[in-house]
Amino acid sequence: MKREVKSQNITKTEGKVDHDARVARNGHKAAILWFTGLSGAGKSTLAQAVEAALFERRCHTYILDGDNIRFGLNRDLGFSPEDRTENIRRISEVAKLMMDAGTICLTAFISPYIVDRQGARAIAPEGKFIEIYTKCSLDECERRDPKGLYKKARAGEIPEFTGISAPYEEPEHAELVIETDKHDLQACVRLVLDYLTEQGILKVDGD
Ligand code: ADX
Repeated sequence: MKREVKSQNITKTEGKVDHDARVARNGHKAAILWFTGLSGAGKSTLAQAVEAALFERRCHTYILDGDNIRFGLNRDLGFSPEDRTENIRRISEVAKLMMDAGTICLTAFISPYIVDRQGARAIAPEGKFIEIYTKCSLDECERRDPKGLYKKARAGEIPEFTGISAPYEEPEHAELVIETDKHDLQACVRLVLDYLTEQGILKVDGD
């Protein structure tokens, strides 16, 4: 369901400090690192570890995390397909603003629908949207069950639970696929940092 556009008589304005000026001051490029995957696959854990490593390298970073955002900005949204779509639409816009502000913005949302992730990619400038699929089997996510939610979902206490009673559409063209049930956390972090270095987002040490 597409939401009605209600804003009218509005005009875009530009400030005196542009994106390139912010990037030049920061010493690294900006990007959106979009982590997607099942609940329990390791999105938040990996995003937090990557952020810590980037922060250590003096990068400007910020994490938008599904559970946290649903306490505030998106507290009016549940887990129906329409609400998840709106959740991701709003986060895509916030991530884009943060990226424009020069940060490396990491997002950790299940974001189960391909079309919603494509929407997030479509509004980001070319090359700035990096989709990272934290791939982990449902069996392993259920075994980990860090919040006890799979158990509740199996007992029928949580409707529309991703992987159990709601779909997860695997990425077909993610920039990175990180199998969190095959590598330890530090190896997963390294894969992300190596990719960012290859793409010229991070400076090579000593530059
Ligand atoms: S998304 O599908 O709209 O992208 P989001 O990442 O914001 O989801 O929130 C997922 C988190 O909400 C899960 O990690 C879990 O803690 C919690 N949650 C509560 N109900 C559900 C549900 N029905 N399906 C999936 N996650 C749920």
